Amino acid sequence: MAAYDIIDHTYDVVVVGAGGAGLRAALGCSERGLKTACVTKVFPTRSHTVAAQGGIAASLGNMGPDHWQWHMYDTIKGSDWLGDMDAMEYLAREAPKAVYELDHYGVPFSRTDEGNIYQRPFGGHTTEFGEGPPVQRTCAAADRTGHAILHTLYGQSVKNNAEFFIEYFAIDLLMSDEGECTGIIAWKLDDGTMHRFNAKTVILATGGYGRAYFSATSAHTCTGDGNGMVARAGLPLQDMEFVQFHPTGIYGAGCLITEGARGEGGYLVNSEGERFMERYAPTYKDLASRDVVSRCMTMEIREGRGVGPKKDHIYLHLDHLPPETLNLRLPGISESARIFAGVDLNNEPIPVLPTVHYNMGGIPTNYWGEVLNPTEENPDAIVPGLMAIGEAGCASVHGANRLGSNSLIDLVVFGRAAGIRAAEVIDPNSAVQEAPAPATEQIMDRFDRLRNADGGSPTAEIRDDMQVAMQEDAAVFRTEETLQSGCQRISAIWQKMADIRVTDRTLIWNTDLMETLELENLMPNAIATVYSAEARKESRGAHAREDYTERDDANWRVHSLATVSDTGNVDLTYRGVHTQPLTNPDEGGIAPAKIAPKARVY
Ligand code: FUM
Repeated sequence: MAAYDIIDHTYDVVVVGAGGAGLRAALGCSERGLKTACVTKVFPTRSHTVAAQGGIAASLGNMGPDHWQWHMYDTIKGSDWLGDMDAMEYLAREAPKAVYELDHYGVPFSRTDEGNIYQRPFGGHTTEFGEGPPVQRTCAAADRTGHAILHTLYGQSVKNNAEFFIEYFAIDLLMSDEGECTGIIAWKLDDGTMHRFNAKTVILATGGYGRAYFSATSAHTCTGDGNGMVARAGLPLQDMEFVQFHPTGIYGAGCLITEGARGEGGYLVNSEGERFMERYAPTYKDLASRDVVSRCMTMEIREGRGVGPKKDHIYLHLDHLPPETLNLRLPGISESARIFAGVDLNNEPIPVLPTVHYNMGGIPTNYWGEVLNPTEENPDAIVPGLMAIGEAGCASVHGANRLGSNSLIDLVVFGRAAGIRAAEVIDPNSAVQEAPAPATEQIMDRFDRLRNADGGSPTAEIRDDMQVAMQEDAAVFRTEETLQSGCQRISAIWQKMADIRVTDRTLIWNTDLMETLELENLMPNAIATVYSAEARKESRGAHAREDYTERDDANWRVHSLATVSDTGNVDLTYRGVHTQPLTNPDEGGIAPAKIAPKARVY
């Protein structure tokens, strides 16, 4: 084994990641008396949740009538009937509780004149099971909601004695021969020491893998680290073909302009000055679901009605809104538009383009966050000792397409659920299992191999090839030709990883090595995405195929499971969607006829 001294730690629970989901789980576990560590590669309040702008969905009904059943219906329709009904019900039903808890923890939500939490409209959120007008369901702290939530949850976690290991890079999961997770190994970035965290449960809250693409609203830290660890443990990733493009990334810069901008009255126009969404989605217009809006924008550009000298983007108008609204409700994007697009929102439109924003797929879990390793006999078999939540997890509540503001609520509802479940299954008085020695050896050997990699291809060059291939071949619209090209290109890049070169051999603040470990995490995400997409011969949610334009429920209302081998082989299997909600109609649940698949129009 490569010679590294290892420092041991023992906890009931180790949470990896300190975004909204990780902090909510760490808080829930520590509140319940579990000895909890939170291991994070960035300072908690720099996690990507800090960038979440528009808000968090919950049917509080502060601005008009709303019900959790309407929220559940909208989530089902948004998912294009691929989400699991039990998980979607859990999300919508628990959302109000989870938001009021945040309020009581101290999140500084914007307020109505009556002092209630302010809520704004967001795409795809409606009333009367999609038959009524848009609903104001998205609870907001101006347009800095993620920032407000993250700071509050960090403070509460510290108050409840969760222990933080900040700027520690989790390298891999420690798995026993019996397939149980017994902890992780992490590298402390500022002094180069190695740490083994032995735990009864590991909760992965490592976020998405937006950085597999060239242009993304995601932070550069969003490298799918948990997904990479899970893939290396031989476990499957679920529904990876479903990648969300947010309609309004700033053209060129990729920074997010919140959907809350359209919620407050903003609208999109083409080069003819036309509000084209009225043509495509006559009822909800600019507040249709985001996969729909992104496709419509792409079609306008393709048909020659894009704006700008190259006719390659679209304008978002907010200049008709009163300056007070921009100041009060959208101060953050006013600043982003000025800095990244040189635009004064009071007078000019913002140039925008659909930009990679969210991964619906991830580590398969049940609605408690327990990781699944489905088998033919038991499609809901769990991996002992391992949970996954937030964007890393796939419960699956977003199915083929997530509604805006359902991400922040996913983080807190399932972060909270993981804490509740961990306290049910963990006995704080039992002994922590020791990791088997070969597991540590294998992890350190891989680390050492990369640290000393002396091939001919620098990490940045391989990463660039991967990002460009994903951007070109796994885009808003897909065909057999583009997807096969994507499979070939990403497989070739996988082979090129053997020729990688790391130039810095030190252990302290070695960003070259850290980026290489991140690239090793991005690659299984990228390859699972293109192969799952190539195999799915239908259009559903964010997976829009020009050669299979219809949704095919008879053959494809199934979750894809991609198992990626060390050599980059992708094995695809499928598991059925959970079609049963948690609550029977006679006990207040939704009637089956209401949630049966139908055409998805806005
Ligand atoms: O547009 C936004 O503010 C993003 C929200 C989300 O992705 O949920």
